[in-house]
This record gives sequence, structure tokens and C-alpha cells, in this order.
Amino acid sequence: MAQLTDEERERIQQEMAEGAQQQEGPQMFETSDLAEIHRVIGVVSGKGGVGKSMVSGMLAVELARAGHSVGILDADVTGPSIPKMFGLSNTLLSALDDNIVPATTAGGIKVVSTNLMLRHEDDPVVWRGPVIAGAIQQFWGQTAWGNLDYLICDMPPGTSDVALTIFQSIPVEGLVVVTSPQDLVQVVVGKALNMAAMMEVPVLGLVENMSYATCPDCGRRIEVFGPSHIEETAAHFHLPVLGRLPIDPALAAAADSGRIEQDLPQGMLPDAVSLAESLPDMLAERMREAVEGEG
Ligand SMILES: Nc1ncnc2c1ncn2[C@@H]1O[C@H](COP(=O)(O)OP(=O)(O)OP(=O)(O)O)[C@@H](O)[C@H]1O
Ligand SMILES: [Mg+2]
Repeated sequence: MAQLTDEERERIQQEMAEGAQQQEGPQMFETSDLAEIHRVIGVVSGKGGVGKSMVSGMLAVELARAGHSVGILDADVTGPSIPKMFGLSNTLLSALDDNIVPATTAGGIKVVSTNLMLRHEDDPVVWRGPVIAGAIQQFWGQTAWGNLDYLICDMPPGTSDVALTIFQSIPVEGLVVVTSPQDLVQVVVGKALNMAAMMEVPVLGLVENMSYATCPDCGRRIEVFGPSHIEETAAHFHLPVLGRLPIDPALAAAADSGRIEQDLPQGMLPDAVSLAESLPDMLAERMREAVEGEG
């Protein structure tokens, strides 16, 4: 094998340094001209299967019921579960002038997900990191979202590469951290919070899912997984508890049958909704900054 000449070595080192420089710091993707997104809320957890997608769906439904225009970006590119919850399993995304057009649920929530690009819902998504990052970029930047008061970002489990891509490229205003009582709650929440801190994304609060069951006969709350530690955990991290959700077969059935919008009981996450409503309007702020910059 021929050795590199000094010149070649220098050129390669230069290119690597330039590449590394390009990767330093957040590089926000631009949105499409056909999108005006006012607030972005991410739903995360320190581990998988605790109900992020359920909470993302609920939050979207409750914000839509309160009269807001809402979209869901299913950022769990390789394990998407939003379309099924909303009965969009047989829907495919369409396109307009190089833009993805989101699917729309019965109640008017706009959804973009890799599942809406697959011919069969159970086709596996076996994409490598750069392709996944490309998908996120398209879902954010090349999608005709229209005017959205809220975009809910249902995140993949854990602190993966995809999560980093999202935080580096989408201006997430705040995170809702979902936990369940069987966790080593403080450790798992701590993991999610550390990532949020590293990415400089504010955390809005904690939601404990599957927190208790309600006895169908006497209405008493049963703490199936033992006593909840959510209040201590929230106090430890100086965060509010935004809700404690019951484990309820009716919720699982609503999600499985694609009827979350129709069958979700009223007022499951009132504190999360009011906090979302008090978030600053990112677009208005940016426009104000632009005007001030000009003046
Ligand atoms: N409060 C609840 N009561 C009953 N079933 C629930 C509840 N929350 C979630 N589930 C069910 O538990 C399963 C896991 O929930 P979900 O898909 O929302 O978790 P997730 O954190 O998004 O998982 P992943 O990490 O794989 O993305 C789903 O089948 C969902 O319908
Ligand atoms: Mg999920």
C-alpha cells in the first residue's frame, strides 16, 4: 500500500478538522415555507416502554380539544407508534412541492411518522444513523405543517443518537419527562435530565404513567407497583409533577384500536396543558428579535 504523502496527509487532516467544526454546536434545521410552528414540546423518558407515545398522544388530544392547532412529529423513526393510536394505519403521506404533507387525524391533528411511509405497517425500519437523521430533518424542515400552535415530538427511548440529532436540530422549547413507578425512578429520571441539561433544553416537569389502578368495584386507588416516589423525585430535581396517570385497560384498548382521540377521558393532564399554554410563543419571539435586529 502506498504511503500518504505529506501533502495528502495535511489535506485529510484539514478536511477532518473542518468536518468536526461543522459538527460542533447546534445546527438548527430550517422549517419549510409551508410551516409556521409556534411551540415545540418533546416527550422523553430515561428508558423505553413507560408510555411516552401514550403521553404524546394524550397531550396532543387535550391541546386540540382546548382549541389549538396541533401536530405530532413521531421522532421514534425506527419504532413509530403514533399512527396506530390515531387510526392512521392505512394512510400514506403525500407530497406537495417537495414537501411532505402530514396525515390528518379525525380530530384534525397532523401527524408525520415513518410508519406513514411504509407500505405495510409492520415492515421493519432498518436504517442507519445518517438516514435516520435525514428523516428527522425532513419531518421538521421539509414538511408542510401549516400553522401549528403546538408540535409534539414523540421521542425514541433513551439517550440515543437520534435523540441528540433532534435536540441539535429542532428548537424544542420544553420537555415532558415520563416515568413509571417500577423504575429506579431517581436514576432513570436523572439520566433524561442530564441529557436535557447537556443539550440545554428546559424540562417542564414529570408525568408518572401507570401510577396506580382504580378498583372497578370500590374506586379505591391501588398502587400496583408499590408506593410512588414521584413527589420526592420531583422535589429532588426541583421540577413540578405534571400528572399521575392510572394504568387503565381502557387506555390501552383506545390506543390499540386507533381511537385515542375519541375515547380519551376528559382532563387527564390538565397541569401539562396549562403549562404548555403558558410557554412563550417561539415564532413571535423570533419575529420580534428579527425586527429589533433590523431597527
Ligand atoms: N396508562 C396506561 N394504561 C394502560 N396501558 C398503557 C398506559 N400507558 C401506556 N400503555 C400501553 O403500554 C404500552 C407502551 O406504551 P407506549 O408505547 O406509550 O410507551 P413508550 O414509552 O412510547 O415505548 P417506546 O419506548 O417503545 O417508544 C402500549 O401498548 C400502551 O398502549
Ligand atoms: Mg414510543
